[in-house]
Amino acid sequence: MPRSVVISGGGTGIGRAVAAWFARHGDQVTIVGRRAEVLRSAAEDIEGKYPVVTVAVDLADPVALERAVNRLPQQVDVLVNNAGSRGTRTRNSGLSAVAERWRRDFDNNVLPVVLLTEAVLPRLTRPGGRVVTISSIAALRGNGAYGAVKAALLSWNHTLAQELGPGGITANVVVPGYVAGTEFFGTSPNEADLVRRRAQTLVGRVGEPDDIAAAVAFLASPEAGYITGEFLNSNGGALLGR
Ligand SMILES: NC(=O)c1ccc[n+]([C@@H]2O[C@H](COP(=O)([O-])OP(=O)(O)OC[C@H]3O[C@@H](n4cnc5c(N)ncnc54)[C@H](OP(=O)(O)O)[C@@H]3O)[C@@H](O)[C@H]2O)c1
Repeated sequence: MPRSVVISGGGTGIGRAVAAWFARHGDQVTIVGRRAEVLRSAAEDIEGKYPVVTVAVDLADPVALERAVNRLPQQVDVLVNNAGSRGTRTRNSGLSAVAERWRRDFDNNVLPVVLLTEAVLPRLTRPGGRVVTISSIAALRGNGAYGAVKAALLSWNHTLAQELGPGGITANVVVPGYVAGTEFFGTSPNEADLVRRRAQTLVGRVGEPDDIAAAVAFLASPEAGYITGEFLNSNGGALLGR
């Protein structure tokens, strides 16, 4: 039976690799993001049994999401909360700049996860549904406001797992280390940066979107039904034991 899979940020980077994984395995995939043309282009490129459905909406905007919710599938077997971003620099200075940075990182990384999950909650398959959320290595080793808001997702996931467990739904988090080949850092990394990132790992390479897709696929699998409220690092050994 094909599963109905919703992936936020599925038009680029890690989300796109996740979407391609599920499509390749015969599932019905819906990708969500702000830029309609980026989603359309990804949907055309991703090969699978079913056409990839696209829903363009800003997931940090509750009103826009309420309007868009009917375009999401009526039944959701797997929700992958992947959308997130680092904000651009602020023109403000002093405490206004600090407040702006923290609000922006919260809006960019917590609201899209919490709002989409709330919107989809009544449609999650009971039992057997899966929620997989993407955090970051920054949540565990620190990186200012961005790391702190990514850590908030780990705490939020505990509550979600408690709420959903009795219905037979699991909620887990994948915590990626550095992943190349995405839009996350804006520009492509230079060689010196890649050398530094590689050296931080034990496996001597940087991560690829497919590495993270594999971790998501495992936590979303029927076989992973006894794992909930957890997080799974995928960082090549860049951070151990947490
Ligand atoms: N790359 C890394 O090294 C790395 C490491 C650790 C964790 N992560 C996390 O992995 C996730 C995916 O990042 P990525 O590296 O694949 O970067 P990416 O290519 O920039 O992907 C982020 C995706 O999220 C979408 N998105 C962002 N904000 C959104 C919003 N408010 N509403 C709807 N869609 C939104 C973007 O599309 P639109 O712009 O069209 O909306 C984009 O497709 C992020 O949560 C990131 O924090 C990345």
